[in-house]
Order: sequence, then C-alpha cells, then structure tokens
Amino acid sequence: MQNNQISLPINVTQRRHTETSLPFWEGETLSGKSWAVYQGQAKDVLSGIDDNSFDCVVTSPPYYWLRDYETENQIGLEDTVSEYVNALASVMDQVQRVLKPTGVMFLNIGDTYYSGKGESKGQDRKSKKRRFGLRAVDKSGGLGIGLQPKTLIGVPWRVAIEMSARKWTLRSAIIWHRAGRLNEAVKDRPRRSYEYIFMFVKSRRYYFNRDAVVDQNIEEDMWTITARPRATPGIKTAPFPDELVRRCLDVGCPPKGSVLDPFAGSGTTLRVALQSKRSATGIDLNIDFCEYMVTSLQKL
Ligand SMILES: C[S@@+](CC[C@H](N)C(=O)[O-])C[C@H]1O[C@@H](n2cnc3c(N)ncnc32)[C@H](O)[C@@H]1O
Repeated sequence: MQNNQISLPINVTQRRHTETSLPFWEGETLSGKSWAVYQGQAKDVLSGIDDNSFDCVVTSPPYYWLRDYETENQIGLEDTVSEYVNALASVMDQVQRVLKPTGVMFLNIGDTYYSGKGESKGQDRKSKKRRFGLRAVDKSGGLGIGLQPKTLIGVPWRVAIEMSARKWTLRSAIIWHRAGRLNEAVKDRPRRSYEYIFMFVKSRRYYFNRDAVVDQNIEEDMWTITARPRATPGIKTAPFPDELVRRCLDVGCPPKGSVLDPFAGSGTTLRVALQSKRSATGIDLNIDFCEYMVTSLQKL
C-alpha cells in the first residue's frame, strides 16, 4: 500500500476501519457540510454502513475492459461479461440497502466492443493506460456467449436487466449526449456520441423534481453535456463532468440531502454535492484517488 500520510487541516480527521483496517477520512466544509472518503472495495465498505443512509447516489463504475485502475480487486477486468455484471450488481445490492426508501440512484455506464482480434500486433496507442496484456474482449471464443468479432456487447443493458431482476426499479434510461465526439479511430461504423445514465429507485414513491429539467427547457431524457476535455491532473481516473452530477442532484436529490458515490475516483460527485450544500460520501479502491479527493475536498 502506498503512503497515506497526507497533512490534514484541523477540520479533517483520518481514522481506520475497525473491520478492514483501511483508512477513511472525515471532514467538514466551511459551510458546515460533512463529507467522508473511504478507501476499499465498495461492497465491503458499504456493508459497514447503516440501512437507509443516503438520499441520492450518483456514480460511474469502471467500464468493462476499458481502463486499468491499477488496484487488486478492481471491477472491470473480469474474464466474462456475466462476472462483470454480477460484480457490479452485487455492489448495487448494497447500494440499494443504504439508499433511503425515497432515494434515487443515477448510474452512468458505457459500452464496450468485443473485438475477438487476438493479440495486438502493432503499437497500442492506449497502452500506457492499459497494462492488461491480452484483454478478455480480444480473445477468441466470443466471450463465452457466442459473440461475433466487432460486436457491441450491450454492457449497460445487461447490467440494468440484472439489477432489475434484483429488485431495483429502472425508471429512466437517460441518454448522456457527450458533446465533443468520443475520440474513436473507426471507419466502418458511426462513432459513438452517447452513454447511458440509468435512473433507478427502490420504492414506488421517491424524490423527483421534474421542474429542474422542465424549467431549463431541455430534453428530459436526453442531456447534452460536454465531456471533460482531459483527465484530472495527477491521477488517472475517467471523471464525469460537474454538470452531469449537478443535473442528477437537481432532479433526484432534495436540498440538503446526503449523497453517495461508491466509485468516487477523483471525487466529482462529492465536490458538486458539497458545493450545493449537501453532505457527501465517497468510496474508492485506489488510495491515490482517495488522497486526491481528501486534498481537494479540504479546500472547499
Ligand atoms: C469511472 S471511475 C470513477 C470516476 C469518477 N466518476 C470521477 O468523476 O472521477 C471508476 C472508479 O472505480 C474505482 N474502483 C474500481 N473497482 C472498485 C471497487 N471494487 N470498489 C471501489 N472502487 C473501485 C476505480 O479506482 C475508479 O476510480
């Protein structure tokens, strides 16, 4: 484990989890809003959190075989799609438990292609971000589910369908139209320009402020938001834009509510929640990302 001795101001405390011995940090913004950052596997950390603790969840998990976050037990590099779907759905089981009955969860998730092309023969321009070796999505065998090479796997819907089978209610499949095209070097299909933001709830009655989208005169289930132009300086997460989080909170989180991101990365959800006077909790497996979050949150 890397060094986690960062200098903390008086309004931040660092402690260790009694069960996991992993570090967590708690702090308060100048306006008195509390935050907490936990290092560890989302599923384990969540199992130590009380039922019905949060009003809203805004999160983006690791996508299937897209990036290496350089940690043991990371989600995203499973051999089969169903292992990935199960790993994610098991985290979401815990998320559902800690969400209040009136709570709403926004899950931003992107898709992956099954290439089936085998070992890369040339230089992989993305190799710096990938220490994968031969990725499961490049191996022959159709990922064990008979996929033809070049198939779009349909990962987001496979996850959404599994979660729906596990008692989540899927209320909307919002399209995030990523203004500023994805940088895909493809010539034989349309380049992708959107991802999903699934809106899930756990009961029939929940907080929903529809005016937040109606008032702005925008499509209610298609949000055009510019993707972050570059990675967060100093750490390799794939951050989503502040505006995406802001819009989720505007529609799905009461004022002064409590917000969770179980795959917090650089802490976009926490920062935006705190800036809107809500309390925030984040979990991430990567200690460097946790330290980055703590350092940036203590400035708020
Ligand atoms: C797509 S990134 C999240 C980026 C974040 N939305 C932001 O704005 O920076 C996914 C994150 O999940 C973390 N992660 C991967 N596996 C995890 C696990 N099992 N438990 C908790 N975090 C995990 C990675 O370290 C990474 O930071």
